Amino acid sequence: MWQDVLDKIENDPEAATSADLTGLLLLDESEYVECLFRAAYRVKEKHIGRIVHLRGLVEVSNRCLCDCYYCGLRSSSRGVSRYRMTADEIIESALWAWRKRYGSVVLQAGEVRDTGFVEFIGNVVAEMKSRSRGELGVTLSLGEQDRASYTRWFKAGAHRYLLRIESSDEALFKTLHPAGNDFTARKNCLNMLRDVGYQVGTGVMIGLPGQTAEHLANDILFFRTMDIDMLGMGPYIPHDGTPLAASAGDYEPGIRFNLALRMIALCRLVMPDINIASTTALQALNPQGREMGLLAGANVLMPNITPGKYRNDYDIYPGKPCVNDSPEECAASLVGRIHAMGETIGFDKWGDSPHAMERL
Ligand code: 5AD
Repeated sequence: MWQDVLDKIENDPEAATSADLTGLLLLDESEYVECLFRAAYRVKEKHIGRIVHLRGLVEVSNRCLCDCYYCGLRSSSRGVSRYRMTADEIIESALWAWRKRYGSVVLQAGEVRDTGFVEFIGNVVAEMKSRSRGELGVTLSLGEQDRASYTRWFKAGAHRYLLRIESSDEALFKTLHPAGNDFTARKNCLNMLRDVGYQVGTGVMIGLPGQTAEHLANDILFFRTMDIDMLGMGPYIPHDGTPLAASAGDYEPGIRFNLALRMIALCRLVMPDINIASTTALQALNPQGREMGLLAGANVLMPNITPGKYRNDYDIYPGKPCVNDSPEECAASLVGRIHAMGETIGFDKWGDSPHAMERL
């Protein structure tokens, strides 16, 4: 019975097997789904508390060398107006978040690998650390890089890095990326980041064409084996004009959304003390998506603080919420909604996961 499986995992997260998780992803009784979310929320309360950490997300640049089949910013996407924020704009955005007491920011960009970019980011990170008196936490999400670049940025003061594996199944990964993107290289980057000293986050897209419940169950076990500190996962959202959107989408939006919430809940049960983000893609499919993610066990929100003039151009997938709001408006509505749920916000805190704290 599903109750027994849920109890087993809640009491002993290490005991979860691929077959257990596959079964729990597929099961579709409303009573069960309620129980799953409640169990995940209990685990979050116990290990993390009813506290949400905010990361101000700065979409630094949409220039990208990669040509991933799912992404609106892929290098062969025509009609994307490519931009890179200036150093001052990035630093101003980050300091805005610091003054709003967010505690930390995420700098995200398409993948670029030249020395000019590496220096640019290194200098920007160092500057935002010093101008915030070292108080602002800095997370990077800048794709696959070499060890020297990761090290340069770590020394500049960044302490967390997000690099999604997209799918932990090598064959599925291959259907998402051109030959130049290698699964093993991506995995090696995750290990290298850990080695350099970062707290490491990864994640997958959920509801991809060709993706099965078993793939997703094995993704969860992959996260556990990799001993990751943070997770960011969201539903796959087809972007017109990309090759993957042209291949028959296997899942309806509602199914992708529900699967994404279950993934969050199951990851919370299996990895009780990591940080799990309730991602913007959830809200793209449901106006209450991010709150529902928090109720399913997530504990991190990433309000978009990219300056308005660039927002429309960071067009990874369609339907991103808040693209027409200012950072100020985004923040105000989000904070109100969190309080309404009875959770508090970890103002002024980096909000590192207990998992990372124990390891470091
Ligand atoms: N739908 C959902 N998520 C996407 N991403 C890229 N394209 C899409 C899409 N069409 C996610 C990837 C990437 C992150 C920055 O955005 O997982 O790592």
